[in-house]
Amino acid sequence: MSTATYRNHPPTSPPAVLVTGGGVRLGAALCTAFARAGWHVVCQYRHSGTAALALCERLRAEGHLATPLDGDLTTDAGRDALMDAARAVAGPLRCLVNNASAFEPDTGASFDTHLARRQLEVNLIAPLALGRRLAADWPAHEDEAAHGSASIIHVLDQKVYNLNPDYFSYTLTKLALERAVALQAQALAPRVRVCGVAPGLMFLSGPQSPENFERASRVNLLRRPIDPADVARTCLFLAETGGLTGTTLCVDNGQHLVPLARDVMFAVDSGHPPLMP
Ligand SMILES: NC(=O)c1ccc[n+]([C@@H]2O[C@H](COP(=O)([O-])OP(=O)(O)OC[C@H]3O[C@@H](n4cnc5c(N)ncnc54)[C@H](OP(=O)(O)O)[C@@H]3O)[C@@H](O)[C@H]2O)c1
Repeated sequence: MSTATYRNHPPTSPPAVLVTGGGVRLGAALCTAFARAGWHVVCQYRHSGTAALALCERLRAEGHLATPLDGDLTTDAGRDALMDAARAVAGPLRCLVNNASAFEPDTGASFDTHLARRQLEVNLIAPLALGRRLAADWPAHEDEAAHGSASIIHVLDQKVYNLNPDYFSYTLTKLALERAVALQAQALAPRVRVCGVAPGLMFLSGPQSPENFERASRVNLLRRPIDPADVARTCLFLAETGGLTGTTLCVDNGQHLVPLARDVMFAVDSGHPPLMP
């Protein structure tokens, strides 16, 4: 952990971070980045238990602190139980990375209300509720300025700055979460900072074929795939930089500056190649 950027956690206990959906894909990159920087990582999983346990085992073998926790993000009781368990194993959380998300293909003309509600629960309500609980649990300090604040990082999507109507409900949940970065930062200041990170396409998702992903992953200003480690490193930077709150960083190789009429995975197969700079 860099002492230049992050000086103020008690020397006897490493700072604790909860990463939701931490077992696989971006979540695994986040757990790895924080663990290697000296944080005690609590890796929440639901269905990816085998991967989460193996990841934490690997990180512990490297000499880091990593604890897998099964947790349900979709109910108040499940979220409370998760936060209780995280606190019991790692102490009060200094950081929460809301990475888990549900990503269902739909349109404004045909969305299913049950699936839309589920995405709202996982992508918006859970991040806000877990953040509220982090703030309630973060101890008050006599000298707040010296102790530093805790932080919440919402993982968004470059889509929120580059709108098209595909993945209609998902996009709306991320738009609301993007607006919540500023509102929650205002609400929880000065003890808790709130930031966002907006990645571009990193992993093959939904109905994509590997060939589609290979082409779509280069539709950005830098014309190369986005490295999840860049996103993870940015989240660590947000967590460890005490002056940042109410702001979002795009980590997308400039994808948000390449507007498309459709989601990139559909645009590259549409016969109308995306307009590149
Ligand atoms: N993939 C991309 O290219 C991309 C692009 C832009 C933004 N993002 C954002 O970056 C973050 C990570 O992306 P990702 O592709 O790595 O995520 P992902 O694989 O789609 O989902 C991450 C984890 O979220 C958990 N999750 C999903 N649905 C859930 C539900 N209904 N209830 C509880 N947990 C649920 C799952 O954990 P378990 O497996 O343990 O159940 C899943 O492994 C997300 O917030 C996503 O919106 C991703």
